[in-house]
Amino acid sequence: MVTEIKSKVTMRRMTAEDLEQALSLSLEQKWPHRREDWEMLFDLGFGYVAEQDGEVVGTAMTWLYGDDAATLGNVIVTQRCQGKGIGRSLMELVLKDLDNRTVFLHATEQGMPLSHQLGFVQDRIVHQHQGAAFSVPIAELIPDERVRPVGRKDAPVLEDLARASSGIDRSALLGALMENAKAVILTRDHEPVGFSLLRRFGRGHVIGPTIAPDLGGAKALIAHWLGSKSGMFCRLDVPEMSGLSDWLEELGLPQVTHVVRMRRGEPKQSSSPIKTFSLATQALG
Ligand SMILES: CC(C)(COP(=O)(O)OP(=O)(O)OC[C@H]1O[C@@H](n2cnc3c(N)ncnc32)[C@H](O)[C@@H]1OP(=O)(O)O)[C@@H](O)C(=O)NCCC(=O)NCCS
Repeated sequence: MVTEIKSKVTMRRMTAEDLEQALSLSLEQKWPHRREDWEMLFDLGFGYVAEQDGEVVGTAMTWLYGDDAATLGNVIVTQRCQGKGIGRSLMELVLKDLDNRTVFLHATEQGMPLSHQLGFVQDRIVHQHQGAAFSVPIAELIPDERVRPVGRKDAPVLEDLARASSGIDRSALLGALMENAKAVILTRDHEPVGFSLLRRFGRGHVIGPTIAPDLGGAKALIAHWLGSKSGMFCRLDVPEMSGLSDWLEELGLPQVTHVVRMRRGEPKQSSSPIKTFSLATQALG
């Protein structure tokens, strides 16, 4: 007689000790996160793990912005445990902590059905572009336009621009990202109108967030970083409607996949022409 012993899956808050196993889950999915990337995400937010026989078999995390918005991400269930309700339980746990916040997540094709079931609606499509063999674009600056390094006093300017682009308070996130990022500001007539960050992530560098008043401004900022990273692996996650995809393809930064930004709750309104042209990461938006 064969007796099947089914061990229980338990859900609990994620701790720093879980990060090594969380990394194994993302590697199994062929996601590019390094241990440092998980650490940064953990320092900025919080999450839950599903555990079976002392092994982490699933994760879900969230990051809070101001008091009315959040992103949800790094939702992973190890392949052998998928389809058993673990992903749903983890996401429900996270959502319980988010009260009345508007929640965004970037869903993979596999994650779309579950997101729909949990009340998320499709918001916009995001293209993931990456590569190392790109040609460096010539930054076409308009008269009185400049791209300059961010100075110490610029932090409030970045926060204002980020808020203008999304209607969301991203000050805590920006402060944390700036500790490990390089940043440049776009000025027109000496007035800051946009900025872009570059930092180590995954297989190389990620360019984002890039916040700009128009496509030309975004290209000027991104061209600055590509010029400094010639021949090195760079990644950008750009909203489909940003208009950047064709240009990135022409440069030799092909689109490798796409995700769908899903939203639960009221959309954030922003009447400003300033927009987000590339994301910090899919998890952080
Ligand atoms: C997406 C994911 C987290 C779902 O976790 P899971 O534990 O397998 O999901 P659940 O068992 O809780 O199923 C919830 C729903 O997801 C859907 N689903 C589950 N597995 C799926 C699969 N392989 N493909 C498509 N949809 C799937 C089903 O609609 C299911 O609802 P149902 O049981 O009522 O039919 C998991 O498949 C995964 O880790 N995928 C790879 C990582 C990833 O893409 N993460 C991003 C998520 S946005």
